[in-house]
Amino acid sequence: MSKLPPALEQLPSVWKRRHLLDLESLSAEEITAILDTAQAFKDATNDCRDKLSVLSGKTSVNLFIENSTRTRTSFALAARRLGADNIEFSASSSSLSKGETLIDTAKTIEAMQIDTLVCRHSAPGAAQMLAKNLDCCVINAGDGPHEHPTQGLLDMLTIRQHRGNIAGLTVALVGDIAHSRTARSNIWGLKKLGAHVIVCGPSTLVSRQWEALGVEVAHNLDDILPRCDVLNLLRIQFERQYTRPFPSIREYALLYAMNRQRMERAKEDILIMAPGPINRGVEVTPDVADGSHSVILHQVTNGLAVRMAALWLVNNVTA
Ligand code: NCD
Repeated sequence: MSKLPPALEQLPSVWKRRHLLDLESLSAEEITAILDTAQAFKDATNDCRDKLSVLSGKTSVNLFIENSTRTRTSFALAARRLGADNIEFSASSSSLSKGETLIDTAKTIEAMQIDTLVCRHSAPGAAQMLAKNLDCCVINAGDGPHEHPTQGLLDMLTIRQHRGNIAGLTVALVGDIAHSRTARSNIWGLKKLGAHVIVCGPSTLVSRQWEALGVEVAHNLDDILPRCDVLNLLRIQFERQYTRPFPSIREYALLYAMNRQRMERAKEDILIMAPGPINRGVEVTPDVADGSHSVILHQVTNGLAVRMAALWLVNNVTA
């Protein structure tokens, strides 16, 4: 059992929230407090390997109504590494398939005296709705194309670890911006911490309207590439699209896949990131995904640290 470092002996003074629903409503100070807490947990637990007992007696439930590998596993592990119990909810074998509403299902789980509900759902606003209707803490693990706050935070933690600071960096989000909750959470978080954000992809997936959020819109990756410090390569979210946004995957890859030729034109210290799952050969070629600039697996480890921080922060705010 690791010892708690002084940085984690009390909550950061800016943190007052019992839910983590989005990055849009968080201040730069709150975002920084989560990142600092995640870093402190990472440092205190030998890269998130060791256990602590700071949430012993608490119970966290993963209510995932959409598929997940990284987010679900890391929330479960994060809870256990902090000494909490973790319960998995299986949507397909639950009473949701018998017509029970999401709120009734969530209230049923809450009545078993749980402390945190971690929710992933295909509907934007699902986690917000649960937070309004429940007394327990709610963490949004992705609500349709809207937000995925812990993904944005783990992306920022990874950038901060490799670059020291986020302010002043140019970060490009490349791919299906229209349907990506990762894109939205990255935009809110990165802008608040002072980065220049570029959203890049075909015009069917990246409209000019994004400029209203204070980001640069680009359709030609080769034009912006030499200016970028970080590329975050986003998956094409076919499951959220009703029409095909480009003629073929081959054509998309030709214009937007990060490959060896493009790496030659990038900054020498460029960071290659992806939230995962990656589709090799579509948004990134295997040599780049597995290459020396890729921090994709560092992001996964940081996901554990960020989720430890999120669970610990929301659970320690008194109602
Ligand atoms: C993302 C998601 O589910 O939003 N993945 C993740 O949580 N790591 C991105 C994606 O599905 O493409």
